[in-house]
Amino acid sequence: MTETKRWNVNDDIDYKAIIEAAQFLRDGMTVAFPTETVYGLGADATKNSAVAKIFKAKGRPGDNPLIAHVATKEQLFKLVENVPAYVENLIDTFSPGPITYVLQSNGICADNVTAGLSTIGVRIPSHPVARALLKQCNIPIAAPSANISGKPSPTTAEHVWEDLAGKIAGLLDGGPTGVGVESTVIDCTQDIPIILRPGGVTREQLEEVVGKVAFDPALANNKEKPKAPGMKYKHYAPDVPLVLVEGSPREIQETIDKEQQAGKRVAVLVSSKIVGSVNADEILSLGETMNEVATHLYDGLRRFKQGDVDIIICEAFSEEGIGQAVMNRLRKAASHFVSEQ
Ligand code: TXA
Ligand code: MG
Repeated sequence: MTETKRWNVNDDIDYKAIIEAAQFLRDGMTVAFPTETVYGLGADATKNSAVAKIFKAKGRPGDNPLIAHVATKEQLFKLVENVPAYVENLIDTFSPGPITYVLQSNGICADNVTAGLSTIGVRIPSHPVARALLKQCNIPIAAPSANISGKPSPTTAEHVWEDLAGKIAGLLDGGPTGVGVESTVIDCTQDIPIILRPGGVTREQLEEVVGKVAFDPALANNKEKPKAPGMKYKHYAPDVPLVLVEGSPREIQETIDKEQQAGKRVAVLVSSKIVGSVNADEILSLGETMNEVATHLYDGLRRFKQGDVDIIICEAFSEEGIGQAVMNRLRKAASHFVSEQ
């Protein structure tokens, strides 16, 4: 056990806290910090021993590579080589923001960041606390989501604390994150960019800038091996089983009734549009728009614990725009296992 230092940077960015947290990172320690998507667990991406602490704290499989976070485009280009021309266009449009570019690594980052791959995922977050931290420490920071591997990603400092207190050196509490789902991971090593993980930047937005964008076929079926190693793991699992109902409010209610008749205590996650049409033991509205649903999704998945309820029933949402990322996470949360490869 380590004592985890917690800094509050909720209202105004406290530069003393940023300076101290940056020094922790420069000294090879782990610090969790908010980004616009979810909280990340950071460590010096150039130091193998620092990065190893991330894998240990999260219980993360060693073959799942991490994203390197930097403050500027110039810093991003220092970590990669053979960059296709369209990438600059993407960066100028979407970064800083919720997008990660997979590019050829030039070997500056430690081997365990890329899990031995020749490529590296790089991202420029837009959250003011993340940006202040990255500028202050002036090194690339490897940072996966700051949760125990397999659990829903953290969108509040409390989620991080619940999972990692005593296992990490520090936590910058910047309040709830905004986007709510992780960055879009996009393979930019080919002529046409390929979405490996849908996220905060939508396919529609990407196509407006670079024309055709492909999808990793593994996103649509369970047969192929995903190109983003992390997409194959057990992920986003709530404390109790989750059932996704693709159907009308009436069909959702029928599913609830059936579970209750079987003696189960049922929690329901729905948009505010249908919250008035369902009845269950616990009901949580995730918001009205798809952006709001994305923002509140992981908090919803973490809210219901064993002992309180036996099952969570969730509405299936439209897959347009950010709905694609939301449904990708919900399908995983419902299946617990996408593939066993
Ligand atoms: O929004 C986010 O991306 C958050 C915040 C903290 O930045 N980070 C995050 O990291 O979600 P993580 O480690 O939980 O997810 C990274 C995903 C994994 O599925 C991983 O396999 C994939 O990106 N990935 C990383 N590097 C890769 C590479 N070189 N090739 C293919 N996939 C890669
Ligand atoms: Mg993660």
